[in-house]
Amino acid sequence: MRSIKELDVSGKKVLVRVDFNVPMDKHQNITDDTRIRSVLSTLRYVLDNNGTLIIMSHMGRPKGKIVPELSLAPVAKRLGRLLQQNIKMATDCIGPDVKKMVSEMNTGDILLLENLRFYPGEQSNDDELARELASLCDIYINNAFAVSHREHASVAAITRFAPQSAAGFLLIKELDYFHSAMDNPRRPLVAIVGGAKVSSKLGALKNMLGRVNKFIIGGAMANTFLKSQGINIGKSLVEEDLVEEAGEIMKRAISEGIKFYLPVDAVVANQIDPDAESKIVPIQEIPADWMALDIGPATSRLFEEVLHDAKTIVWNGPMGIFEMDAFSRGTVSMVHSVANSYALTIVGGGDTDVAVHSTGQSDRFSYISTGGGAFLYLMEGKILPGVAALDNIS
Ligand code: 3PG
Repeated sequence: MRSIKELDVSGKKVLVRVDFNVPMDKHQNITDDTRIRSVLSTLRYVLDNNGTLIIMSHMGRPKGKIVPELSLAPVAKRLGRLLQQNIKMATDCIGPDVKKMVSEMNTGDILLLENLRFYPGEQSNDDELARELASLCDIYINNAFAVSHREHASVAAITRFAPQSAAGFLLIKELDYFHSAMDNPRRPLVAIVGGAKVSSKLGALKNMLGRVNKFIIGGAMANTFLKSQGINIGKSLVEEDLVEEAGEIMKRAISEGIKFYLPVDAVVANQIDPDAESKIVPIQEIPADWMALDIGPATSRLFEEVLHDAKTIVWNGPMGIFEMDAFSRGTVSMVHSVANSYALTIVGGGDTDVAVHSTGQSDRFSYISTGGGAFLYLMEGKILPGVAALDNIS
């Protein structure tokens, strides 16, 4: 995959695809600008090397229609403040007005295009839209790791029409960290997999089977594994249709010499409510009408010990409903255990990054991915369509 560094951006119009799909509150205030900050080095590189910068992104899921609340205008403001430069905001991402704005740009100018997903062609990977976008630039850069698992026009089709294409620094960094952890890891390599559903992690679990030395399973998905072991999990969330498959995965892991750790106790409550009555019970004593909503303190202690000799840790998915204080301790304690380890630590997907940021421990992790779905896609052992599109160019 070609890097932006291999191209001469001087005097060129450089169209950079980023993922500015940032969380906003109901007043359209950006509540976390990590995704904007993480692409600044690529944007500055273009500016420092006398390029002209056109930036494009999606925001939310407007399903091919104009949804004013999903405008990128708030991002333009924040980006302007971070770069300390005026950002021009287009009212569209293609069309005559955008073409005119682009033709009037001078070296060092920055233009942010409006939400790509206001056009249905973005998600259908439409050639026409890709051609229109590509016609705006001399060089196309994909720096949008978090959306590179989508075969969309601005990520995939566009490389067939842009005069030159390459990867930005964030995309390269994400792939480098992930592959250094998975392809040739320092061992033991431990995978921590949490979150609600086994179904969404099945591909990742299977792909990791041949690679990891230890599995730690937490979150509601642990219930399906526990049930496969004959444990009575009361009213806890479970995927009945996957109980057998979960058991098979566990059996295969153990037969391959992989250590497989499940919770040994749980924080249970009689309903999913921050104020619900809750208690800590051994995993074999979950009352029939109660549900497990977090791992318990004995499990946190066990998982901490399991991580003690780890040299590489890949973590995806929280240990419980960490958005509710009463069920957040297991995840918070896992953040500390991973932060305290002597391993290369990589975190991504399923709100795990949110959990890490909220504890103020981000600096103690080797790498926190900006991707949710894209990170999981890599864990499944697949090649991202956005990366394949860059690989297939001459
Ligand atoms: C994300 O937030 O994970 C990316 O921006 C992709 O968004 P999507 O799931 O709507 O394609």
